[in-house]
Amino acid sequence: MFTSLMRAYLTRSFQPFIFTDHYDEYLNYEDTQQLGLYVHIPFCRTLCSFCPYCKQKYDSNLAKQYVDALLTEIKLVGSMQIGKKKVTSLYFGGGTPALLLHDLGRIINTLQHYYEIDGGIGVELHPNDINPFVLSILKSFGVSMISIGIQSFQSEHLHTIGRIPFDYAYIFQTIRAACFDVIDVDLIFAIPGQTHETLIKDIETAFSLGATQISTYPFIDFTFAHNTYKPLPEKQKKKMLSAIADYCEQTGRERTSVWTFAETNTQKYSSVTRDNFLGFGVSATTLLKEQFKINTFSIPAYIERIQANQLPTALTTRFTLRQRAVYYLFWRAYSTEINPAEFETFFAIKLEDLYGLELLIAKLLGLIKVQNNCYILTNKGAYYYHLIEQAYTTAYIDKMWNISRKTPFPKKIILK
Ligand SMILES: C[S@@+](CC[C@H](N)C(=O)[O-])C[C@H]1O[C@@H](n2cnc3c(N)ncnc32)[C@H](O)[C@@H]1O
Ligand code: SF4
Repeated sequence: MFTSLMRAYLTRSFQPFIFTDHYDEYLNYEDTQQLGLYVHIPFCRTLCSFCPYCKQKYDSNLAKQYVDALLTEIKLVGSMQIGKKKVTSLYFGGGTPALLLHDLGRIINTLQHYYEIDGGIGVELHPNDINPFVLSILKSFGVSMISIGIQSFQSEHLHTIGRIPFDYAYIFQTIRAACFDVIDVDLIFAIPGQTHETLIKDIETAFSLGATQISTYPFIDFTFAHNTYKPLPEKQKKKMLSAIADYCEQTGRERTSVWTFAETNTQKYSSVTRDNFLGFGVSATTLLKEQFKINTFSIPAYIERIQANQLPTALTTRFTLRQRAVYYLFWRAYSTEINPAEFETFFAIKLEDLYGLELLIAKLLGLIKVQNNCYILTNKGAYYYHLIEQAYTTAYIDKMWNISRKTPFPKKIILK
């Protein structure tokens, strides 16, 4: 109800987001500026009960066919424009990309045939992947940013979510020796049994071991996950998020998004805050000025479509101007900074002409402040954003992913 009202108000329309199986064979991104690339690797050694992402247990035959299809998808999309297109970054997510370590080089080479990657290459890693050999291969491929799914350094919390502890001194010594520009550590908060003390200890440990940034995600209980335990209540999540923000502020770390905090004077990286991106692989999303599409979640259906020389698109939607603006602002607000000049360049309309009243109210309520001609989310604003983000994750992402997991090409999905 809350999500419907807010969507209707901000988009000034009762029209919900409608996704259908009609799709364009052509992606128009020739003139798109600030374009990021995302590649999804959907394989894991074992599957974690809490994890909603599109993945399955590693199978070498299927993985081989998947990589062939992925390379073909890159060629299909890459040849939709002439020459080499400048892109801001490349990010490998999953799943567990390092399971296809040797194929990552081929994938990067194929992408580099069509795209000039300006701002670095990032890879998500499981703690199990980290050893000098894997890291040296990644470095030789040009990877400069890594994100490690630690979740917690405390054995008891790892046990709750079905993960095992690792030798963190060894892992981080190996990482530090490899000299990446960005070392992100993923942590989950609101795991049952977690306290402020254990949470803050996790953050302290991450930074003291060499993390340049931490991503602290509130534990979300997806309806299709197999959790036998539930997240701590929202009241406790609120206290934990504010404890994280206070601790980072007091120790001189910068808030770089609602859920990320970084050492000052380090390169910042986020896999989600891009204005435009091309996604390759199952479940990958592509967002352009006028087009938004999601690939099928089914690996066999993905391979079949690609073998027929067709895009593996499962769902698309056409945004109205206000829908596109709301989507843009949602992710800009996540990064805690909205730059009105960049908004105007993107939409050819002043931000204040579309949302002047809302910005004024947000300012009066202390949710945003103006600094260097930008709107900056305050800690209070970041908390309300965190609430809204979780509400939309439940109302939109959970619904969309749940259907997509079961149906390779759903006819229609309506997000109210
Ligand atoms: C694709 S996953 C992880 C990468 C890697 N495969 C691993 O497990 O270490 C990205 C991150 O999402 C976060 N995550 C996954 N499921 C979550 C959930 N239900 N609630 C909150 N965060 C979650 C975790 O912190 C995880 O590291
Ligand atoms: S958390 Fe990581 S290892 Fe676990 S299922 Fe998700 S992607 Fe795979």
